Amino acid sequence: MCGIVGYLGNGDAYPILIKGLKRLEYRGYDSAGVAILENGDLSLFKCKGKVVDLENIVDEDSKTGGIGIGHTRWATHGVPNDVNAHPHLSGDGKLALIHNGIIENYASIKEELKSRGHIFHSETDTEVLVHFIEDVRSKLNVSLFEAVRIALSEVHGAYAIVVLDRENPNQLVAAKKSSPLVIGVGKNDDYYIASDASPIIEYTKNVVYLDDEEVALMDRKEGLKIVTIQNQAKTPYIQALELKLEAIEKGGYDSFMLKEIHEQPRSIRDSFRGRINIQNGFVKMSGIDDYRDKWLNAKRIIIVACGTSWHAGLVAEYLFEDFARIPVEVEYASEFRYRNPVIFPDDIVIAISQSGETADTLAAIELAKQKGAFIFGVCNVVGSTISRSTHSGAYTHAGPEIGVASTKAFTAQVTVLYQLALGVAQVRGTIEQKDVIKLMAELNAVPDQVEVALKSNDHVKEIAAIYKDSRNALYLGRGYSFPVALEGALKLKEISYIHAEGYPAAEMKHGPIALIDEEMPVFVIATQGQSYEKVVSNIQEVKARKGKIIAVVTAGDKTVSELADHTIEIPKTDDTLVPIISVIPFQLLAYHVAVMRGCNVDQPRNLAKSVTVE
Ligand code: M6R
Repeated sequence: MCGIVGYLGNGDAYPILIKGLKRLEYRGYDSAGVAILENGDLSLFKCKGKVVDLENIVDEDSKTGGIGIGHTRWATHGVPNDVNAHPHLSGDGKLALIHNGIIENYASIKEELKSRGHIFHSETDTEVLVHFIEDVRSKLNVSLFEAVRIALSEVHGAYAIVVLDRENPNQLVAAKKSSPLVIGVGKNDDYYIASDASPIIEYTKNVVYLDDEEVALMDRKEGLKIVTIQNQAKTPYIQALELKLEAIEKGGYDSFMLKEIHEQPRSIRDSFRGRINIQNGFVKMSGIDDYRDKWLNAKRIIIVACGTSWHAGLVAEYLFEDFARIPVEVEYASEFRYRNPVIFPDDIVIAISQSGETADTLAAIELAKQKGAFIFGVCNVVGSTISRSTHSGAYTHAGPEIGVASTKAFTAQVTVLYQLALGVAQVRGTIEQKDVIKLMAELNAVPDQVEVALKSNDHVKEIAAIYKDSRNALYLGRGYSFPVALEGALKLKEISYIHAEGYPAAEMKHGPIALIDEEMPVFVIATQGQSYEKVVSNIQEVKARKGKIIAVVTAGDKTVSELADHTIEIPKTDDTLVPIISVIPFQLLAYHVAVMRGCNVDQPRNLAKSVTVE
């Protein structure tokens, strides 16, 4: 979603803003803009489209100046166009503001301001906010820092903002609530502000993550000052950034998605390295060790997540039930938060999120917290809002995921949840040690098996070429492979715009079978294991209706190969680990289909990488 970059320092802001906005492109956006201040002149450029379109409209004279703000907008209030793009100016033209989030009570504030003569040019809530700050500043005759704090105390909703004052080239003011914002503190008191650390990493490793309802003043003379909306002073907590620049670059691949698909042997290994001891079969996770009683006494686990993370949650449901014998409910965070869910103090809520910023998941956590549940987070982004809002948790160690379609985050999430389920089962005494040792050895083999699965790339590409013009596709799986069917369908639809649906294979006969004809590709996970024979029967049902079968099978399989139109082999593993390997061909397939259809795989239309609005 919207990306924010700000700079106050001794260099020129423009190149830093543009490079930073490009680093944030992965978040998804539809328009872009910058405001730069030099010698009292405020230059404002903004347009619908990409950052390169913005570069084309910025004139050479405006590219100097040591203070500026830049933004990529993902439309919420008002269509994507030049006027609605950020930055927005106050009525007197002195303040420029960029904003990520939604001001929920903007309509009433707007009416009030209009009645006092304010004129608005855009449809955005952001323009209302900058007028409101201007209004507070002039009415109360306070500093910009103070005006921002007071105005935000009246605002409902989510925001990350940066404000620049034409009459004060020495200051930037930033604030956040429910949308991320990080401040980099560079050499010679240079300040960098961004929605995540990727625009900052090459300038400084010293960062301050703003907490909710904090307002920060960056001043050339006074340095960095932070207060809460309630006006309590806070000491800025500067921490070292661990992110590496290579991790956020494409490294020779055509797209981030392809790079991230190929990173999975490493990211899966990193997600279990140091956490399992295969020789003696122990799981070492502080989130289990420090809260043994919670896990021991838990009556139920509720998993809250969205999208791909929700699919990882479905795999975890089977794992916790199989290994730890705890009842599990997997909830869409967006539904959970608006119900009146029954939550008991001995429930454990597991929140899964790659970005750690998903607004719905965050709201579900807050609700469960209020009701007294213990919250465990599984996040990828270190220092993200969700990782800081939970009681305990485990990072996935997938490294930065830039492609909007989640790939390596999914396999890393399942890997972490796998260990968690095993470790909790040990605490509860529901699994035999010999089984733990065997499963750990199988898990240890998974990165190499994923490497083998990635070798199917050329074969998958040939299959993609055959089905790239399909209008619909069905994905089927049973047991542990059902969530993978959902994930395969999501990957295809989100980056290639082909309508695809995932179903439990046996559910097909209750409706979707009506769709099957010779035009319909049906992707089936038919690996050898518990439901193998049943899935073979489902394949026969599809073939009897002339559907096309593309089956992911265990290496060496003969039965399905004789029935299917195409097979893709993956190495044999335990049923419980199949999702981590069988998802690989589906990721590759979606990637190749999207490329062949001319789609932008890293930034699919209408989508954002971190969904920070409800
Ligand atoms: O960052 P999160 O894991 O919380 O994001 C959840 C979903 O928005 C995300 O998985 C989305 O569905 C992806 N585009 C899937 O590829």
